[in-house]
Amino acid sequence: MRVLLLGVGGFIGSHLADRLLRTTDHEVDGFDLTDEKLDEFRDLPRFAFRRGDIRSEQDMVDDMIARSDVVIDLIAHANPSLYVLKPLEVFELNFLENLRIAQVCVEKKKRLIQFSSCEVYGKTVASACGSALKDPLNVRHALFSEDTSDFIVGPINKHRWIYSCAKQLLERVVHAYGLREGLNWTIVRPFNLIGPKIDYLTFEQEGNPRVFSHFMSALLEGSQMKLVDGGHHKRCYTYIDDAIDCIAMIIQNPGGACDRQVFNVGSPANEISIRDLAYRMRDIYARKFLRPGGRLPEIVEVDSVDFYGEGYEDPDRRIPDITKAKTLLHWQPKYTIDETLEMSMAGYAEYAPHAVPIT
Ligand code: NAD
Ligand code: UGA
Repeated sequence: MRVLLLGVGGFIGSHLADRLLRTTDHEVDGFDLTDEKLDEFRDLPRFAFRRGDIRSEQDMVDDMIARSDVVIDLIAHANPSLYVLKPLEVFELNFLENLRIAQVCVEKKKRLIQFSSCEVYGKTVASACGSALKDPLNVRHALFSEDTSDFIVGPINKHRWIYSCAKQLLERVVHAYGLREGLNWTIVRPFNLIGPKIDYLTFEQEGNPRVFSHFMSALLEGSQMKLVDGGHHKRCYTYIDDAIDCIAMIIQNPGGACDRQVFNVGSPANEISIRDLAYRMRDIYARKFLRPGGRLPEIVEVDSVDFYGEGYEDPDRRIPDITKAKTLLHWQPKYTIDETLEMSMAGYAEYAPHAVPIT
């Protein structure tokens, strides 16, 4: 099978290409602006990389789609600071450019695996309704299921939600192409994947990286670990290898189980508040990685307006319901939150340009 990875140079794309090249006999075509994360397999004969900008290299991309059996679209702006700084660019890349890819897949009758995001679920009911209606645990409403949960996002002046809405609209259009044109699609909603080669590695990224990278940079450089608005919001951190296991199954598509299905990919057991994440990472760093004489950073609180600018708001909780992936693909994540953090921290320090090598 020939697999096309659009966005192969990114965090998920580079891990996915590596896995496909090591464990299958698929031919892998990759397209991206950058190839800095592809060193381990760039020269393998079953891998072909084309550098380009999806906004201007339409003929090149269309040719790659035409010769592929399955198209995996990972291209997006995926850092929340960009949703606040450049909302229109987020809409244009994450919706308009990806819409065109879906249309070419319809025209050329190609299977499309579209990367969306857990961000489509937005906030919990409790958060949207205010404290009067808050259920103290709020677990039921934070457990999001692919085919039954509603989506709740903030007002227009909180323009961070443009990412969520662009991803949601793309999902709806892809679904509609399945209904009207017979497009065979699968949608993947990752929940906060972390691991080696996440943001800020061998080159400067546009916009702030995601929180794990901020905290790792602070640990390596001794600068402050910043808790936005107190760090009370929660995320379920998922180790990249666990997620790649699931995505590889989705590509394999046993018995057509993934045809026109949406899948949550995440670790429900790994929920942690951002405040606890900071302390947990600092503890792990002190125990496992700190060199003699090294110092630990302080943990401070910052206002979201100062950190991101006006227009920021973010999901309070989101826990993946992974019943569908368990049932249809017999997949479930293996790694605990501590294992996930330790392996990601070791991997980050190995790749980050400013890292002190860990012995
Ligand atoms: P990433 O930023 O590491 O990868 C995105 C890749 O797209 C980058 O390599 C980038 O160079 C490429 N790209 C951006 N603009 C381009 C353009 N104009 N032309 C060509 N290539 C371009 O992000 P990631 O974490 O690997 O995420 C991949 C996908 O998964 C995205 O769609 C993201 O929204 C989604 N997602 C990721 C996570 C996660 O936990 N990492 C969670 C939810 C959703
Ligand atoms: C991310 C991004 O939207 C995407 O990468 C992706 O779609 C998705 O979620 C995902 O990874 O599943 P988010 O989890 O909000 O969104 O991204 P982070 O920037 O990592 O922020 C997590 C939390 O940490 C937020 O509450 C943020 O305010 C906080 N934060 C961030 C800090 O407290 N300190 C920091 O230095 C950075």
